[in-house]
Amino acid sequence: MHKDLNDEFHFIKAGMRLKNRVVLAPLTHNMSAKNGDPSQAELDWLARCARGGFGLIIAAATQVWPGGRCWSGQPALMTLSQQNAFSTLAKTASENEALVLVQLHHGGVRAMPELNAGSPFGPSGEQSGGRYALGVTELKDNDIRELIEAFIRAAQRVYDAGLHGVELHAAHNFLLCNFLNPKLNRRTDQWGGSVQNRARFLIEIVRGIRARMPRQFLIGVRLSPESYANVVGTELDNQLAVTRLLAAEDIDYVHYSMGDTFKSVNGQVGVDLLTELSRAIPDDIPMMVAGNIRDARGAKLALTGGADLVAIGTAALGNPDWVKKVDKGIALVCPPYSESWMLDQGFTSAALEYLRTMTGVVKRVKEA
Ligand SMILES: Cc1cc2nc3c(=O)[nH]c(=O)nc-3n(C[C@H](O)[C@H](O)[C@H](O)COP(=O)(O)O)c2cc1C
Repeated sequence: MHKDLNDEFHFIKAGMRLKNRVVLAPLTHNMSAKNGDPSQAELDWLARCARGGFGLIIAAATQVWPGGRCWSGQPALMTLSQQNAFSTLAKTASENEALVLVQLHHGGVRAMPELNAGSPFGPSGEQSGGRYALGVTELKDNDIRELIEAFIRAAQRVYDAGLHGVELHAAHNFLLCNFLNPKLNRRTDQWGGSVQNRARFLIEIVRGIRARMPRQFLIGVRLSPESYANVVGTELDNQLAVTRLLAAEDIDYVHYSMGDTFKSVNGQVGVDLLTELSRAIPDDIPMMVAGNIRDARGAKLALTGGADLVAIGTAALGNPDWVKKVDKGIALVCPPYSESWMLDQGFTSAALEYLRTMTGVVKRVKEA
């Protein structure tokens, strides 16, 4: 089937329509308050992206539980006032014919000790030293049940805020990804061992949200298909098995965070990762991909390669009007961006402080 960026896209099971296939990838920006209250600047930035034509906006990794925080300016969705702040995005969405999802997150083994009450939590304990300065504390069965409830409660807040759904962040070596990973999840109870057991945490969240919210409420899951950057011990075969389990649940899409959408499978030169994923994912589960999609050509290539939806990350940071520019044939500004350009796009100095830590996003001072 020929697919184009400006095609309408339908989440069939939910009966929800997107005006195009272009998605704003979840992008942490470090603009929330220390307690997770979203700032006007970040709500304005998301509104700018909605005005810029993205059919679907996925708000940044958002904290659902008092622990698990990863960035000092990470947004949270744990209080009524935070819910009220997010609710302003419902107006943004309807004014721009966009849908807005919130990405629900717990940092797991990557949570920052200085932002939480000490050592991070994970599926299994880890010694202190090396990657984990304070070690990792193993979650108890009742902690896992409480965390499932916390994810569902945050999803309820997304719904009550008038937004359209959630993306569960099960990628990038954060908590839900840690449980899927047999190297980090060495449990012998119902939350570890087989892939069914390792995926149980994620699937219980999906089922809990589905049971409590009307069917129009979208649920997507973000997965890392393989190891890269912060992800260790994640293998394609395992992630394909997880995808098959998710496909049997009532979800609306799987979002693969590819790093590079056009890469080969790790260690298998010439075996195209996107092709392998698109062969494995059942036809009735929409596939979203992100990673190194900079321009219309790349986005179309991803669609041709089997994706249904393309998520734009770095290119959107400097071009919140990416879709409009592409439609009109206006040249995109290329990363790394100058700091003054990013300030003009609505990022604050706290955002710049974070963006400077990411490779290739903002110009080093001597490059400016
Ligand atoms: C500044 C920045 C913040 C990011 N924040 C998140 C996030 O909150 N959640 C997430 O799943 N991925 C996050 N990512 C990853 C992006 O969603 C995307 O997958 C990645 O940047 C690759 O796409 P790109 O090459 O288009 O940038 C972030 C990336 C960048 C550059």
